[in-house]
Amino acid sequence: MAASGTKFDRYAVVGHPVDHSRSPVIHKLFAEQTAQNLVYELLDATPAGFETAVRGFGAAGGKGLNVTVPHKQAAFALCDELGTEAKKANAVNTISFLDQGRLRGDNTDGIGFIRDLTDNHGRQISGQRILILGAGGAARGILRPLIDAAPLGLVLANRTVERAEEMIAELDANLPLAACSFESLGELDAFDIVINATSAGLHGEQPPFPSSCIGPASFCYDLAYSLKDTPFVEWARANGAGSAAQGWGMLVEQAAESFFIWRGVRPDTAAILEKLGR
Ligand code: ATR
Repeated sequence: MAASGTKFDRYAVVGHPVDHSRSPVIHKLFAEQTAQNLVYELLDATPAGFETAVRGFGAAGGKGLNVTVPHKQAAFALCDELGTEAKKANAVNTISFLDQGRLRGDNTDGIGFIRDLTDNHGRQISGQRILILGAGGAARGILRPLIDAAPLGLVLANRTVERAEEMIAELDANLPLAACSFESLGELDAFDIVINATSAGLHGEQPPFPSSCIGPASFCYDLAYSLKDTPFVEWARANGAGSAAQGWGMLVEQAAESFFIWRGVRPDTAAILEKLGR
């Protein structure tokens, strides 16, 4: 129990909608584990009200914000100072309030994703054939970190193939990259790592991917998270994937990196994941 008069620094996650976010629970556990005096809230802001909400939180003494859908690009545009990963992703998920109302933006999504894959799930990325399903904001956030981890090759497949083609054309990489439709995936062998970055299946419909892209050696990873298995994880298991996981670990790892940026202390994520029953 904190002594009375203890000052608690304020943080929040800003999004729309935001009430489903698990970030307050995770940051509360981090704060308890590392004995940091902070509170972490939910901040709902529409796109039109985003800047006012951010500046208002800072003016009221807030120390930092996590930024979630749909504001990551708007946050990037708003920040006065940007970290390297934010510049690479053109998106910000972590805002720190500096002096005189200045904002610093970082992006911890990529590092959170790579840590979950490599540390928590024990998957190496180098030398692997990787398939990303989907070419929206979630795919954009993981492309650069994956390429930097030197896979053997990477295919980006999307329902609207032009979106995937545009995203691949923007990338500068020293390895084979390709864009294709879901249908043409049927002509390719199973991949080592298959990542779902679409919102397909979230309304109960069957994920629209050919099952030939996964096999007994494939690791399937869903960027989405849920309290039970996601439809993609169920689909992957039912179609013979060697293993499948959803994005809980990524959520905890990116949160830990944000916490480290703000507080200079790194939480023990393995203990928190265990506590959350993941
Ligand atoms: P996010 O930021 O979550 O990535 P987004 O930018 O709207 O959100 O992208 C959603 C992704 O899910 C896109 O790749 C989208 O495909 P299109 O580019 O063809 O729209 C994909 N998606 C959404 N619903 C889908 C469905 N029912 N079947 C297949 N792909 C779907």
